[in-house]
Parts: sequence; C-alpha cells; structure tokens
Amino acid sequence: MFTDVEIARFRDETPGCANVAHFNHAGASLMPAPVLNAVVDHLRREAEFGGYEAADEAEERLEGVYDTIARLIGAQRAEIAVIENATRAWDMAFYAIPFQPGDRILTSAAEYASNVIAFLHIADRGVSIEVVPNDETGQLSVEALRDMMDDRVRVVAISHMPTNGGLVQPAAEIGAICRDSNALYLLDACQTVGQMPVDVEQIGCDILSATSRKYLRGPRGMGFLYVRSRVLDQLTPPFLDLHAARWTSRDRYEVRVDARKFENWEYFVAGKLGMGVAADYALAIGLDRIWAHVEQTAARLRERLSEIAGLTLYELGTVKGGIVSFAIDGVPSRELRNRLFERGFNLTTSTVCSTRYDMEDRNLPPLMRASVHYVTTDDESERLVKAVEEAGTI
Ligand SMILES: Cc1ncc(COP(=O)(O)O)c(C=O)c1O
Repeated sequence: MFTDVEIARFRDETPGCANVAHFNHAGASLMPAPVLNAVVDHLRREAEFGGYEAADEAEERLEGVYDTIARLIGAQRAEIAVIENATRAWDMAFYAIPFQPGDRILTSAAEYASNVIAFLHIADRGVSIEVVPNDETGQLSVEALRDMMDDRVRVVAISHMPTNGGLVQPAAEIGAICRDSNALYLLDACQTVGQMPVDVEQIGCDILSATSRKYLRGPRGMGFLYVRSRVLDQLTPPFLDLHAARWTSRDRYEVRVDARKFENWEYFVAGKLGMGVAADYALAIGLDRIWAHVEQTAARLRERLSEIAGLTLYELGTVKGGIVSFAIDGVPSRELRNRLFERGFNLTTSTVCSTRYDMEDRNLPPLMRASVHYVTTDDESERLVKAVEEAGTI
C-alpha cells in the first residue's frame, strides 16, 4: 500500500481530485498533470507552429512511446502498434486472422460485447463460437478450457478483467494451455493495463489490446496493440495504407514487417505523447504497488458496501481488482447513478449490452460500477458508502 503522503502527492498531481469523487477509473480515469501537460503542450505547438512541424519536433518522444509501452508489458518495441482505442486495436488483430471453415473460437462468459460482435460477424465463414464455462468461483474454468482444446481451436479470446466486475481471469494458466496448441491467444487487457502488472511473457498471450484512458490514466482516443513477433507474419491487417505498407511499383506494395503494419498514418499525435507519459508515470510509481493498493481499496469498499441493507455485490472469481459491482433492491441503477452524480460522485452502470453472456447467465439487473484506483482514499470510499446508503433509499 502507498503511504498517506504518497497518495496525497498523487492526488495533488491530479487536478480532477479537487473537483469530484471519482469512482469511474474503469470508464476513464483522471489524468495526472504531467499527462495533461504533454497533451495540451503538443496541441499548442500544433496550433502555433503547424501539426506536421510539431510532430517532427516531437519525433524522438513519439518513438520513445513504443519503448515505454513495450517496457510496460514486457514486450519488444517492434511488437507494439499505437491505435486509437482498445477495440480497434483488438479488431485489427482479430480480423487479420485467416479463419477457415471449421475453426473454433473459444471465449469467456465475461467477454466484452464488441469482441463477441466481431465473432458473430465472421461466424458465417463456418467458424464456431464456444463459451468456456466458469469454475465454481466464477472465473473461467482452466480445466474446462483444457478439455475443449483441439487442433481446430484457432483463437482463445479472453477479457482479462471484464467491463462489469473486478474478476481477474487466470490469464497465465490460460496461456500455458495455449502454448501447447496451435491456437492464438488474444487477451483483451483493456481494464488491467495500468491497474496491475501485465507481462506478455509471463502470461503467454500472442496478442494483447489495451486503452490509454482507463487505469493507465492517459488521454481518451488512444490505445495500443501488442503482437508477438513470432506470429506477426501469420497476420495480414484487414486494412493497409501508406504507413502500414509501401507502394513500391505501379502494381506492387510491401507490408511493414513490424506491428506498426496495424497502424494507420493519421492519428492523435498529442494523445500518443500523453499515453507515453501516462505509461512512464505508472512505471515510475510501480505496477506492483499500484495493484496492491487497488486490490485492497476495492476489497475494503466491497466489505463496507455489503453492510448496506438491500445491497447485493455481484462479484466473481478468486482474484478481484478495482471494479466493484452492485445493485440495490428496488432502486434502478441508472437512477442511483444519477443521484450519486448530483452528490459529486462519478460512477457508471453496466448493462446486458456490454457483457450479455454473463449478465444473462447470472440473470443480473443493470449494475452499479464503482471503480477505484490508487488515488482513491479510504475517506473518499467512506463518503461513497454513506452517499449510497442515503441515495439508495427508495
Ligand atoms: C474489457 C473491455 N474491453 C474493451 C473495452 C473497449 O475499450 P475502448 O473503448 O478503448 O475501445 C472496454 C471498455 O470498457 C472493456 O471494458
């Protein structure tokens, strides 16, 4: 855990902490000042000196973003592509997979909607979508996955932490199973990067997607993709432009060999710089310490919320992170969210449309989602508990 002095410093460096009690780090966290300054300073250079010229001036820092992101997840810089959000990063890799009729996709019950929509989108190629059952704790059953594997499994696609709860899937155990197979292991780490140590070697994933604005605390409109060097040449991006490929003669082009073949030429330059600063900031603080703090802060919040009459926590798994999901009997979550917003608390709700398999399987109502980070103090959590108690009265 961080000391009170350290947390006070992190909060001082976060302008938003003075304005709101932010329990929406899983939606978009509050940017720390160094990130905000990097973005705003670059936008100002663009406005005052020209966009292309500002990018030239920032070239070294822009290249450095690949090193920082690679360090953040234990990858090599050539395995990183910077892409505008986690979904598009995931899509660029997923739609690059040369599916054949008879191929199988194995996924988790807690999978994110956009990923499942992409599975359904290609299902008419004769590809099956199979949900690996959960074990008794509610996390993906590693045993069931092992039993389901065969040569036709083309992809094992897992959300590391779902959008609607703190469940941390057993990513490394899944990786160990995939390592012995022909399947690609695609990890959606949108909610875990920046929240906990995520190391692609330790996990063993072939592809990983993440976003800047959530636990990494970067700007919106930014994300990244990791593709293991060994599988890069198996994947042809669904779109190619003059950045991803070079037009070499009238009827030929050559595709880049590194992960940047998944990028495109025009992008949010200030956002990329901001994401790089956010990753540096997280690395300087230390992902192990961030995770210890988030895990404990969320556990305490769960404990305190569970004491409220009529409130049910809807949490799965053995390892739980910063997302806390609950509902109060007789109080629609949207209504409760609005009442809390009026009292200065930022929370959001999760509905069936974002995690349908899980919400239907458990017959869940729309859920409240309170997500904590290392800038969340016990005092703030206590104030939230009191506000939920008051606002949750019918
Ligand atoms: C598990 C998971 N995957 C993917 C996404 C999508 O990320 P983005 O909005 O950056 O595309 C989210 C967003 O909430 C998420 O929770």
